Amino acid sequence: MSNIAPTPWKLAARAEKMNPSVLREILKVTERPGIISLAGGLPSPKTFPIQAFADACAEVLHKDGAAALQYAASEGYGPLRQAVADMLPWNVDPAQVLITTGSQQGLDLIAKVLIDPGSRVLVETPTYLGALQAFSPMEPTPVSVASDDEGVIVEDLVAKAKDSRFIYLLPNFQNPTGRTMSEARRAAVSSAAAKAGLPIVEDNPYGDLWFDEAPPLPLSARNPEGCIYLGSFSKILAPGLRLGFLVAPKAIYPKLLQAKQAVDLHTPIFTQRMVSAVMKDNFLERHVPTIRALYKRQRDAMVAALKREMQGLDVQFNAPAGGMFLWVRLPEGIDTVALLPQAVERNVAFVPGAPFYAGQGDPRTLRLSFVTASVEEIDTAIAALAMTVREALANPG
Ligand SMILES: Cc1ncc(COP(=O)(O)O)c(C=O)c1O
Repeated sequence: MSNIAPTPWKLAARAEKMNPSVLREILKVTERPGIISLAGGLPSPKTFPIQAFADACAEVLHKDGAAALQYAASEGYGPLRQAVADMLPWNVDPAQVLITTGSQQGLDLIAKVLIDPGSRVLVETPTYLGALQAFSPMEPTPVSVASDDEGVIVEDLVAKAKDSRFIYLLPNFQNPTGRTMSEARRAAVSSAAAKAGLPIVEDNPYGDLWFDEAPPLPLSARNPEGCIYLGSFSKILAPGLRLGFLVAPKAIYPKLLQAKQAVDLHTPIFTQRMVSAVMKDNFLERHVPTIRALYKRQRDAMVAALKREMQGLDVQFNAPAGGMFLWVRLPEGIDTVALLPQAVERNVAFVPGAPFYAGQGDPRTLRLSFVTASVEEIDTAIAALAMTVREALANPG
């Protein structure tokens, strides 16, 4: 007789479709002491302005304690919505800004408002895995648009646009590839999407983290009525705040707001007021350059280590102009999912690239974060990774 009681819980069809993140399963092998992880998407804790938060926290509690601890408007804290509108490089009405609980919540709200079962949703090749996860409970049909070093290829976008609900794009320092869409590509994508009547969801959490020059204007600046823009405080202040925002056209804003009300009524007002206080006196204009400088040094270290250690191997990698991630393609015959446990034996972890593809993944690819480990750790980790690759090539299968 089985001692497992039958469960009284009948799951919704949508819950049956929710899978544990493939990535989380793959990365379980990396949870071992002593591993240098280039896998996580964690900003460097060295960049968290802890004292500024301590001061702002005291200020908010002393000045507006009761309001900071009360229920608040679903749209977000007025001065923060205004600050977001002021921060963006096109003319944004604060009434179009919705403060979200991380930009990840923005993706969830967009999925609820725009996706029916079977709706075609166009994505880059590869794309941000967290977006695929946010969309998936609404049961879309994700369609991969062919992409190169500058992002989606316009001809393929045009060929696939018909009957699609939207295209999800990450023009700046993309997660996972680190690539950036050029000015010319932005102009072409923006006009092709407008011509095809295809809305754009533009996700830009990394745009401020440029190293040498600011990226071209967002797609949303070119056609605000055709775009929903997502932004985040996670990479320029701290991810634990869970604070992001979206900017949506008037035609769709009320629906996104209603979806948000159902999810969490509003984003924590205490956090919103604290961030608003931190941002006073142009704080970000002083703070963000320090993040850029740190991440640029780390990117340089990783690119130098890859050049040194991968010499003689057929390995391709880029030198991203900003953000947190670098994309690598290993020699023919290597599958990075199979390689990961071998790398972990040598105390280094990365993220295999295949899960980031909505369609068939490229098994030779992997994503490296250059921001979490120190320069010394990056050197050690890339040397270990190169050794793992050489060993795998020497012992195929
Ligand atoms: C491309 C992209 N979009 C959205 C998010 C979610 O960010 P958050 O919810 O912390 O604002 C991330 C997080 O890493 C990301 O890389």
